[in-house]
Amino acid sequence: MTEQRNPIWDPNGSPRAPWDVRRPQPAIQALVEAGGFSGRVLDVGCGYGENALCIAASGLHVTGYDLDREALDWAKDRADERGLRDRTRFLRFDARRLINLAGDTPYETVLDSLVFHSYKTPARRARHVAGLGTVLAPGGRLHVLCYSDQHVGPPDPPHTVSLAAIREAFADGWTVDEVRETTSISNLAPDGVASWLVTCSRSTGSTGSSRSIPYREES
Ligand SMILES: C[S@@+](CC[C@H](N)C(=O)[O-])C[C@H]1O[C@@H](n2cnc3c(N)ncnc32)[C@H](O)[C@@H]1O
Repeated sequence: MTEQRNPIWDPNGSPRAPWDVRRPQPAIQALVEAGGFSGRVLDVGCGYGENALCIAASGLHVTGYDLDREALDWAKDRADERGLRDRTRFLRFDARRLINLAGDTPYETVLDSLVFHSYKTPARRARHVAGLGTVLAPGGRLHVLCYSDQHVGPPDPPHTVSLAAIREAFADGWTVDEVRETTSISNLAPDGVASWLVTCSRSTGSTGSSRSIPYREES
C-alpha cells in the first residue's frame, strides 16, 4: 500500500543515499510551478541536482553547490542529457564558506533543500543562515525545505526543526514571509517526512525583524 503512495521506496534496500530520490522534491517542484523562483538561482547543498534541474527546466540559470563529487557528476550528466548544461553549473563548494563570498554576484533566489536542518545548534544554524544571506541579492527570496519536528515516525528522520528554531534562526535581519507544512520524499520513509517549507527575505533597515508566521496548508 505504501509502495503505491511512494514508488521510490525499495523494500529490499538501496545503495542510494536517502535523498537520492531521482526526482525533485515535490514541494520544490510545486514552488517552481507557482513561480517561486526568479532571476539567478543558487541551490546550496544541491545533492544530485534534481531540484536545480527542475528550476533550470523552467528557464532560469541555476548554480548548485555541494561537497559530494559523485552527486555533482551525476547532476552534470543529467544536465547534459536534458539539454540544460547551458543554464546550470554544479560546483564543489563548502556551504560553510558562503559567508566568505560577500561581494560576489548575488542570487535573486537561494534554495536550501534539506541542508539547514542538519545544523543542530542555534549557533550553527545562525552561521549557516548568515552565509545564505551573504549570497542573496537585495529583495531576493530564500526558500528552505527542512524536516519538521511534527513528523511522527517510524522512521524518525535524523534531523528535525521546530517552528521556534526557525523563528530564532531568522530573527535577525530577516522577514519570514511564509511557512508551509509539507512533506519531503526520502528513500528511507515510504510515507515521506513531515517538513516545513520556509520562504524568507532580508529585512530592510538595520535591525531586521521577524513577524508572526502564517500557516498555509498545501493543497
Ligand atoms: C540531505 S542532502 C539534500 C540534497 C538536495 N538539496 C536535495 O534536496 O535532494 C544534503 C546535501 O547537502 C550537502 N552538504 C552537506 N554539507 C555541505 C556543505 N558544508 N557544503 C556543501 N554541501 C553540503 C550534502 O553533500 C548533500 O548532498
